[in-house]
Amino acid sequence: MDFPLIRMRRTRRTEALRSLVRETRLEPGQLIYPLFICSGEGVRKEISSMPGVFNLSVDEAVKEAEEAAQLGLGGLLLFGLPESKDEQGTGAWDDHGIVQQGLRALKANAASKRLVLIADVCLCEYTSHGHCGMVVETADGYDVENDASVDILGRTAASLAKAGADVVAPSDMMDGRVAEIRRALDDEELEQTPILSYASKFASAFYGPFREAADSAPQFGDRRSYQMDGANVREAMREIELDLGEGADMILMKPAMPYLDVIRAARDRFEVPMGAYQVSGEYSMLQAAFAKGWLEPERAMLESLIGIRRAGADFIVTYFAKDAAKVL
Ligand code: PBG
Repeated sequence: MDFPLIRMRRTRRTEALRSLVRETRLEPGQLIYPLFICSGEGVRKEISSMPGVFNLSVDEAVKEAEEAAQLGLGGLLLFGLPESKDEQGTGAWDDHGIVQQGLRALKANAASKRLVLIADVCLCEYTSHGHCGMVVETADGYDVENDASVDILGRTAASLAKAGADVVAPSDMMDGRVAEIRRALDDEELEQTPILSYASKFASAFYGPFREAADSAPQFGDRRSYQMDGANVREAMREIELDLGEGADMILMKPAMPYLDVIRAARDRFEVPMGAYQVSGEYSMLQAAFAKGWLEPERAMLESLIGIRRAGADFIVTYFAKDAAKVL
């Protein structure tokens, strides 16, 4: 019952046929666009390692949100660049912090109501040492303290939700933070605010350009004592299971392209909404190849995104969100 009875090419003949048998679709509403909010007015500062991505002051972020809403994007993921940093990352949970200001401005803007406003919950942009939690000195160097950090992350999530975040997304990888964030939100009568947990987050070289964008590179050491080892898929499943047990409503997988098998494993195992983050390095790598004329921008961008959807992600956080929506 093979060839010539069966000819696979029959359904590939025209675009109409190809569209009919297409198994995976990509829609603007499945894309989340990250924004980096900084202080000032009229600021639009391009990130050198991420062409087309900017640090934006609140007024410019509002303009960006209007465009995102017009393009039909699913939402925005907000990061902040505070004016000053300290050991405790106080800027993260300051009710007048930079992302909190951004959220209030976005909430006051009619167009943004069509977008899901997701606030990244982490301390690395706010701590002087650049780690995602509290640092203490130990006999053999330093440690990123888990439980003290979790406490502060809870406070941060509550502050961001009060300022208007529709969803809070912890990306710090401390143990037990989802439970504490849930408690902190419920204490403030924010029991309807969902938690999108970066449950599966690997210690990745592909975050490099982000650290320029968010000015969040660790000043010493690295993140390998809290982010996962890139070799482990079973451990990722356990992280997800624990976060769901603690009350996570949705999970985020990160990075995407080097970890498509992990996304697939999670899809097969967990019946929850799942996003994947096509991180800064994935974007910059493609942009570099586009600049050299080595890859066709539109096709390579769409192929990278459909691959992530095919692996099982319901939605994708991507710096290509606007470009992709324009093509779609
Ligand atoms: C904060 C955070 C990072 C990213 C998202 N949230 C950086 C990191 O963990 O070092 C990376 C996103 C990207 O590379 O686009 N912890």
